[in-house]
Amino acid sequence: MIRKGIILAGGLGTRMSPLTKAVNKQLLPIYDKPLIFYPLSILMLAKIKEILIIVNKGQLDQYKKIIPDGKRLGIKIEYAEQEKPKGLPDAFIIGKEFIKKENVALILGDNFFYGQSLTTMLKKCVQLKSGAKAILHKVANPEKFGVAKVKKNKILSIKEKPKKFLSDLAITGLYFFDNNVVKYASKLKPSARNELEITDILNEYKKKNKLSADFIGRGGAWLDTGSIDDFYKTTNFVSAIENRQGFKIACIEEIAFNNGWIKKKDILSSIKFYGKCDYSKYLKKIIS
Ligand code: TTP
Repeated sequence: MIRKGIILAGGLGTRMSPLTKAVNKQLLPIYDKPLIFYPLSILMLAKIKEILIIVNKGQLDQYKKIIPDGKRLGIKIEYAEQEKPKGLPDAFIIGKEFIKKENVALILGDNFFYGQSLTTMLKKCVQLKSGAKAILHKVANPEKFGVAKVKKNKILSIKEKPKKFLSDLAITGLYFFDNNVVKYASKLKPSARNELEITDILNEYKKKNKLSADFIGRGGAWLDTGSIDDFYKTTNFVSAIENRQGFKIACIEEIAFNNGWIKKKDILSSIKFYGKCDYSKYLKKIIS
């Protein structure tokens, strides 16, 4: 059972400069809430209550203004700083003390997931006892992603941005690992682009026949928010769904309330914290 999760929310956000010169990408809005709420909501839907958020050195105060700790959500949130974007596996080096002897989930701070069977899939993934699991999603332009060739739920091979077609299943920014990931990360050497590569970690598991996959089906969405264009596309997606249904995507208080982690009084304290806004109005509706 995975009880711990890491959100990797640093990065330079180069593609979104000048927006990201002063503010980290994960604090920018996807429609009505900061991007960081979305990956956080995914871990919470997976019933993960111990969360480490890794942010860029010098940006901790900005994050703490919006998510000071997990109290209002009935969870435990810790922060750590990343010196510079050394690569995704750095999460397990920075997070070593947080992870201790347990298994761990990793989600990238800029990944957006949505779909009806998502929660069921997440609940299955946190059952992982040994090995590693990557979450895959079919894409129309696999040459732009890291992709995986699979047989049923087993990953046979992976390739970063393949020039020749290998598979149209992209490896998303959501992973589940057993505790070996800490050991594997500590032994990694930087790649030619001078980064620690998550592909190298996944390959380590694959060599041992311990790498599996789960899928976001065609009823679900995985959207990248790396470029300005993608950012606005995701905003439009959230706005369309929220305004049509009247439900919010990634309302972290609602998820905590539905999970039975917080009470009405905690929601009231969130309303006070956010002040008079549409988000607070929605929270009022939840408890009325
Ligand atoms: P990237 O898309 O690789 O980088 P970025 O978000 O900084 O954007 P750009 O390429 O435009 O410079 O990162 C994916 C996510 O992972 C993003 O949320 C930032 C985060 N990240 C870190 O926090 N630390 C790291 O060392 C890396 C590589 C990424």
